Amino acid sequence: MIEPIDWLDRWRRTVIERQAQADRWRGGPAREDDFWAGSVARFRELTANMTDDEPFFATLRAAVRPDDTVLDVGAGAGRYALTIAPYVRRVVAIDPSPAMCEALALGIADRGLRNVEVVRGRWPDDAGLVGSADVTICAHAMYWSPEIGPFLRAINERTRREALLTLRVHSVDAWLGDLPKRLRGEGRVPEPVALDLVGALSAIGIWPDLRIVPGYLRSYGSLDELAAHVATLLAFPPDDAPLDFLREQIQPLVSEREGRLWLDGPWRLAGIVSWRNA
Ligand SMILES: C[S@@+](CC[C@H](N)C(=O)[O-])C[C@H]1O[C@@H](n2cnc3c(N)ncnc32)[C@H](O)[C@@H]1O
Repeated sequence: MIEPIDWLDRWRRTVIERQAQADRWRGGPAREDDFWAGSVARFRELTANMTDDEPFFATLRAAVRPDDTVLDVGAGAGRYALTIAPYVRRVVAIDPSPAMCEALALGIADRGLRNVEVVRGRWPDDAGLVGSADVTICAHAMYWSPEIGPFLRAINERTRREALLTLRVHSVDAWLGDLPKRLRGEGRVPEPVALDLVGALSAIGIWPDLRIVPGYLRSYGSLDELAAHVATLLAFPPDDAPLDFLREQIQPLVSEREGRLWLDGPWRLAGIVSWRNA
């Protein structure tokens, strides 16, 4: 007997079991108060280097009108919120990370923007802090929320015209193949990806469009930098990671171009999941 998929439960278990596995491997929860503080520099750089043809931005740009309000859930350093601001009347950017909110405020000041409001809050618990929007976006901010039903309902309730969401097509560490199993004795629990998002939306009565696009292609300055990143993915503490072994194992998985190391293959694909409200 093949059971129907309970998408909301699948999402919940994926998030909880993935987190529990990382905590188990690490020997306890990560200590950082603000989990995102260490990633701010990378997200500020991504924001500074955004281009008009980046697929999610191009989709957003085509969806907005000059008089619109855009709500960005999990805005981070403002990769999309700051870049779309010159094309719309108002942007509301909500994010729970103090470090990301600070980066947003810096970005607003650097660009001299006067139409972006930053709200420090967690979705959907703090959804009451923001009003409705013509277009709502949420880019790569859902991987850590176990209760995706209320998260998506709150987006839908606040969206007057169109919701545009994006997630990876593969888990962030899928390219590691069987390395987690060889090193840790078990495969890495996957994270929720674009297909899970389509399923979760269908479970709350929304049938979205899905478009698969080339996402952000991550590159590294050296094998040492990549090995340190893999150590984080595998929840090794920075001073106790088998870096020599990791370097040896990951070298065949990357190719060198323009003095940098690139993860080629399907790993960069992202899904753009969207729906329109009447
Ligand atoms: C990978 S970053 C993406 C940032 C931005 N959307 C972008 O694409 O550059 C994920 C962001 O989601 C935020 N986030 C995580 N859980 C969230 C939640 N429940 N509500 C709102 N934001 C959340 C984090 O604080 C972080 O800034």
